[in-house]
Amino acid sequence: MASGERGGTGVDELARLARRLYVEGPYLMRKMMHYRIRICPFERILYHVPSGASVLDVGCGAGLFLALLAGTVPDLTGIGFDSSGPAIKTAERMSEEVRRMGLRSALQFLRLDVAEPWPSGTFDVVSLVDVLHHVRPEHQKSVFERASKHVKANGILLYKDMANQPVFHAGMNRLHDLLLARQWIHYVPIYHVDEWARELGLTISHAEGMTRFWYRHELRVYRRP
Ligand SMILES: C[S@@+](CC[C@H](N)C(=O)[O-])C[C@H]1O[C@@H](n2cnc3c(N)ncnc32)[C@H](O)[C@@H]1O
Repeated sequence: MASGERGGTGVDELARLARRLYVEGPYLMRKMMHYRIRICPFERILYHVPSGASVLDVGCGAGLFLALLAGTVPDLTGIGFDSSGPAIKTAERMSEEVRRMGLRSALQFLRLDVAEPWPSGTFDVVSLVDVLHHVRPEHQKSVFERASKHVKANGILLYKDMANQPVFHAGMNRLHDLLLARQWIHYVPIYHVDEWARELGLTISHAEGMTRFWYRHELRVYRRP
């Protein structure tokens, strides 16, 4: 299946998939995975991942992006890593469910901080979904740069993060992270990220902004020529 053919995978379908795949593990974390589908535009992000792709998901949390890819993209190979132990445990239980469902995808999860050595090799897709605003400002550019180095020639760096504008949306998301992650987040203006990508020799092959409830999102597909 080519990426364009998945344009019809809707939010309700992804929510059903998340409910099927997150059946074990801490109740609140599972509920967050079900609810996250409604606020994060995953259907717009996964659209860019071709069948048979190898994916490195940086700051994968409980593996939701790879879970949705496993259910919609055949023959996917995915590695996700995150610094949170409980999130990685939940991701591993989800990947057992992927196997039980007989989905044609191989997923692997590692507990790692972005400051530690990353899984080696290059990938068709490297994804950074809502991670950079959790990284300290002095490390944000180097995390983006490391992610770009793991992208194969003609592969993509999929970047999705929360917008720092308009102020209302940025404020509501800051409140969300204060309540749920108990963290003061650090937005990166999207024009900085575009500039970093250009400096690293990546081209912008897709740019999109979207609003869900009171959340404002920026999506970029950066391609390594
Ligand atoms: C908003 S969550 C997004 C999770 C996942 N990408 C998703 O879209 O569902 C941000 C994630 O970044 C992870 N994270 C933050 N700082 C990190 C670091 N220094 N190293 C690895 N992961 C980190 C957090 O543990 C958290 O799971």
